[in-house]
Amino acid sequence: MSVYLGIDIGTSGTKTLAMNAKGKILAHASAEYPCYHPKPMWSEQDPEDWWQAVVKTVRAVVKQAKLKPADVRAIGLSGQMHGSVFLDKNNKVVRRALLWNDQRTAAECEEIEKRAGGRKKLIEMVANPALTGFTAPKILWLRNKEPKNFEKTVKVLLPKDEIRRRLTGEFATEVSDASGMLLLDVVHRRWSKELLGKLDLDESLFAKCYESSDITGKLTAETAKLLGLSSDCIVVGGAGDCAAGAVGNGIVKSGVLSTSIGTSGVVFVHSDTPQVDPEGRLHTFCHAVKGKWHMMGVTLAAGGSLQWFRNSVCQTLMIEAKKKKIDAYDVLTEEAAVTPPGSEGLLFLPYLAGERTPHADPYARGAFVGLTMAHTRGHMTRAIMEGVTYSLRDCLEIVEERGVSVKQVRASGGGAKSPFWRQMQADVFGKTVVTMAADEGPGYGVALLAAVGAGEFKDVPEACEATVKTTGQTKPGAAARKTYDKGFPVYQGLYRSLREEFKEIAELG
Ligand code: XUL
Repeated sequence: MSVYLGIDIGTSGTKTLAMNAKGKILAHASAEYPCYHPKPMWSEQDPEDWWQAVVKTVRAVVKQAKLKPADVRAIGLSGQMHGSVFLDKNNKVVRRALLWNDQRTAAECEEIEKRAGGRKKLIEMVANPALTGFTAPKILWLRNKEPKNFEKTVKVLLPKDEIRRRLTGEFATEVSDASGMLLLDVVHRRWSKELLGKLDLDESLFAKCYESSDITGKLTAETAKLLGLSSDCIVVGGAGDCAAGAVGNGIVKSGVLSTSIGTSGVVFVHSDTPQVDPEGRLHTFCHAVKGKWHMMGVTLAAGGSLQWFRNSVCQTLMIEAKKKKIDAYDVLTEEAAVTPPGSEGLLFLPYLAGERTPHADPYARGAFVGLTMAHTRGHMTRAIMEGVTYSLRDCLEIVEERGVSVKQVRASGGGAKSPFWRQMQADVFGKTVVTMAADEGPGYGVALLAAVGAGEFKDVPEACEATVKTTGQTKPGAAARKTYDKGFPVYQGLYRSLREEFKEIAELG
């Protein structure tokens, strides 16, 4: 039997799945871990927690699917992008990792632009502007604010690449995730010597960069034993979670676009050539498909906004739901579903973690606008979901502005599992939304990359053609669409009106 494992080191937890050569899922397991917020808008995790979750979930799928060590031929790794694991000369982490949604690096983003010779020059070198979530500003932050820790640092790895190091002993990364470090010459798919020089960073700080389906190493004997696998098991490059999710959804050719609502929200399109947005609103990154690229817009608090509402505002509901053994999200969604589209004039800006697309603004803040005595919890839930979906429409419109014609939207992530949120996406976008048969997220995409690396398929498009199937379709409803077409410009105007105040509010907070 040939089995491939996909491991996704996400923000709320790690998900691992086992897939056979036909793309059928044999087993999956997940394990959660905490996220630390030592200051407002700071976001950190302990890489040891990721490792423990990987060990736990791999052992669980091996057990569930009754796998023998020799069955598992290859592993693909995916993970939250942009995080910074700082390692010392003994491979010990120097401090907790800073995550993709950490907003502490506004000053370092300015420093990078200045050192690069301006925003335009920076975009020419690495295809993207400096954004607070990216890795390079985090490294400069360490150098500026924790110089002792910076002195100790000999390697900076992305989250999934730290797991690779522990699995294989190799320092390796791959082009899709490396693109989000802001240090990769995305057009030529190699580290940008030019920018590294301007930032005074040595290339030896970084891992060797591969294509996503390339083999980067094998399990060490010790790890193989710990996981119940063979030391012949290879580990391929894998991909950042966005590109990995896109492979799992078959976004490996032009014309189809995916949206994903997880903690963050992502709008993702494939591109045969590197298409750089001169305004830097969309990210232009290497795709996990050899020699291809992608563009994406990222909204930082998508499912994260709803999770915040459930955890921080609806605690009593959560306790009741736990007692009744029901899911608090289901209760909230039912309440939202009986409120009319447009939430009777209540709007929500989902900028709880600042924002990236379309407003690269670490000072942006969340807001309910338009509250009246008539509004209920159901209205608030619906307004949150609508606000998140409007923010995805913001991204989608920029993609279309860049000349990409979108024939189909493939929905994925937790948001696609809810028929209510799928219908809302179709209504807000005015497009048919399609769902996938195996909506397994990034883990599925990297299991496919592992199968390609092991020679099961010729390349990534062939692997997707053989395994990725669409199921249901959700068409936009005329009445709701009209309501949302009226609401969207009002939503867009709110950020413009509040932008200056957000800065002052951030200072108050
Ligand atoms: C992508 C991004 C997020 C994280 C979340 O640019 O920052 O989607 O990868 O996992």
